[in-house]
Amino acid sequence: MLDLVTDTATDTAHTAPPQVPLIEARGLCKSYDRRKMILDGIDLEITKGERIALIGSNGSGKSTLLKSLIGLHSISGGSLRCFGDPVSAQSSRAQRLNMRRQTGFVFQKHCLVRRRSVLSNVIHGLFGEPGSWRAFSHSLASRDWRERAMQALADVDLADKAMDRADMLSGGQQQRVAIARALVRRPRLLIADEPAASLDPVSGQNVMNLFTQLCQTHAITLIYTSHDMAHAVDHADRVVALKHGKILFDRPASRVTRAHLQDTFDG
Ligand SMILES: Nc1ncnc2c1ncn2[C@@H]1O[C@H](COP(=O)(O)OP(=O)(O)OP(=O)(O)O)[C@@H](O)[C@H]1O
Ligand SMILES: [Mg+2]
Repeated sequence: MLDLVTDTATDTAHTAPPQVPLIEARGLCKSYDRRKMILDGIDLEITKGERIALIGSNGSGKSTLLKSLIGLHSISGGSLRCFGDPVSAQSSRAQRLNMRRQTGFVFQKHCLVRRRSVLSNVIHGLFGEPGSWRAFSHSLASRDWRERAMQALADVDLADKAMDRADMLSGGQQQRVAIARALVRRPRLLIADEPAASLDPVSGQNVMNLFTQLCQTHAITLIYTSHDMAHAVDHADRVVALKHGKILFDRPASRVTRAHLQDTFDG
C-alpha cells in the first residue's frame, strides 16, 4: 500500500512556490442528496501556472470537483477559496460573476452553435461581459471583441477558418474552436473536463499539446480531467487521483508510477 499522507505532504511542499494559491480547498465535501458524500474532505491547493490532471474511475467525482472549485456547484462542507476570495452559498452574484469571468471552460462535448461562424462561436465566450447581447454574433460584436476572438483563433491556429460555419470543421478543429472560445475571456484559470475524450488519438494529442503551449504562453493555470493516462502524466505538473470521494494521491506527474495508476482504478 502507498504511504499517501507522507507522499502528498512532501510533494506539495516541494513544488508549491510561496504565494497565495489560486485555489485552496480545505475539507471540501459535496453531496447532491445530503446522504451520499461524492466528495468527502478534499484538501487541494493549486498555485498559479500549475497544470493539474485529475484522474479517477467513472463516478469518482472529477466533474463534481471541477464544478465545485469554481462555484458552479455549491459545496456541502469545508471551505474553499478561488482567486483568493471565499466561495460559498453566501457568495454574492457579483463575486460569482467575477470568478467566472476569470475562468475558461472546455468540455468533452464542445457545444458549438453549428450554423454560426467559427468567429461568432468564439465571441460567444464573451457572454457574461457587459453588453453581452453583442456576443450573439460576430456582426454585432465590437471591433475590440472581434480582434480578441481573432487572436484566440490564431492561438489555436484556426484564424483562416474564422468565417467558416462551425459544422464545416472536423471534430478536432471544433474542439480547438471551443478552446478559443474559452481563451477569448483571457482567463487566469482554464478548466477542461475530458477535453480530448471524443477525439482520435492524434487530434487528442494535438489538443493536449495545445493546452501545454497555451498555458506556457499566457501563464494560464490548467485543471483537466482525463481517462487517458498518457495525457494525464505527460501534460500535467501534478496528478491528483480521486477514489471513494477522497484524494488517493497528489504528486508530481514525473513521480506517478504504474502502481499508482493501478491503485486508482482498482475496485
Ligand atoms: N447533478 C447531479 N445530481 C445528482 N448526482 C450527480 C450529479 N452530478 C453527478 N452526480 C453523481 O455524482 C457522482 C460523481 O459524478 P461525476 O460526474 O462527478 O463523476 P466523474 O468522476 O466526473 O465521472 P466520469 O469519469 O464518468 O465523468 C456520480 O455518482 C453521479 O451520479
Ligand atoms: Mg466527469
